Amino acid sequence: MKYPELRLRRLREHFALRKILTEHTLLKKDLIQPLFVKEGLVKPAEITSMPGQWQWTENTAADEARRLEALGIPGIILFGIPSKKDKTGKAAFSANGIIQKTVRLIKKKCPKLLVITDVCLCEYMSHGHCGILKKRESGKWRVESGSVDNDATVRLLAKIALSHARAGADVVAPSDMMDGRVAAIRSVLDKNHFKRVPIISYAVKYASSFYAPFREAAQSAPSFGDRASYQMNPANAAEAIREADTDLKEGADMILVKPALGYSDIIFRIKNKFHCPVGAYSVSGEYALIKAASQKGWIDAKKMVLETHLGLKRAGANFIITYWAKDIAEWLEDTCHSE
Ligand code: PBG
Repeated sequence: MKYPELRLRRLREHFALRKILTEHTLLKKDLIQPLFVKEGLVKPAEITSMPGQWQWTENTAADEARRLEALGIPGIILFGIPSKKDKTGKAAFSANGIIQKTVRLIKKKCPKLLVITDVCLCEYMSHGHCGILKKRESGKWRVESGSVDNDATVRLLAKIALSHARAGADVVAPSDMMDGRVAAIRSVLDKNHFKRVPIISYAVKYASSFYAPFREAAQSAPSFGDRASYQMNPANAAEAIREADTDLKEGADMILVKPALGYSDIIFRIKNKFHCPVGAYSVSGEYALIKAASQKGWIDAKKMVLETHLGLKRAGANFIITYWAKDIAEWLEDTCHSE
């Protein structure tokens, strides 16, 4: 048989035909911008490893939130950096903590903007790990894997999530990777009249080298060891399904996959298996890569960002948490990108 010539290419040649056959689009409504808020800061400080991203004061974070809303971005996710860290993480659930104060302010100034809070302990712990560390008999903090006390940490995470909901957070997003934390958070929210506050679970969070710039931004690098005892092995996909399954059963409303670059098969698998809302977190290292190469003039940041983010939509992401959100919103003339 003679292979039919131009069988697929003839669908690509006419500009308008390409348009009507477009399968996926990147929209402003897909975007969530992460913002870092630092207690005790006098004026915004640019993050060295993430040029164009800032540590904000409470007031300037609220101003930025207003600008993002005006650009058509539907939501933000907040990360807090407290002025004092310790081994108990108490600054994370104080009613007057940096996140709680900032949420109240932003919700007052932008009531319609979706305010998501990251629920984790790493920024609040002097040792930078995502939970309470078990003590050794000698009284020394343990550094070997398995040293984070799962259940003690979960109790604390539930307290943090409740304090965020009390401050007015619209959605809480636990990012610690402890077992059982979604159930614990759901139960404490329900008991305290926050049945309507949904949970985005970072159910699938890989132990990734792509988080390095974030750890400077949030000042949360572990002072010893790494996070491999609680974050996932990049080699595993079936385990990602089990993580998502468990969290959905515990009451997670949305599942987040993180990082995004290199993990879009995981977005695809979860979406196809559970048909639940799935978000992609395009992390700090992904931002830094494109930013640095574009500053050297090696690549076109706009084209590359639109392409990679469109790829996440194609993989099945309903929304994308991305440091490029503001730029994308400025680039999208007619609120959408498909080529
Ligand atoms: C933990 C948390 C991290 C990120 C989001 N939440 C860091 C980590 O696990 O080390 C990383 C996000 C990014 O790299 O942009 N609270």
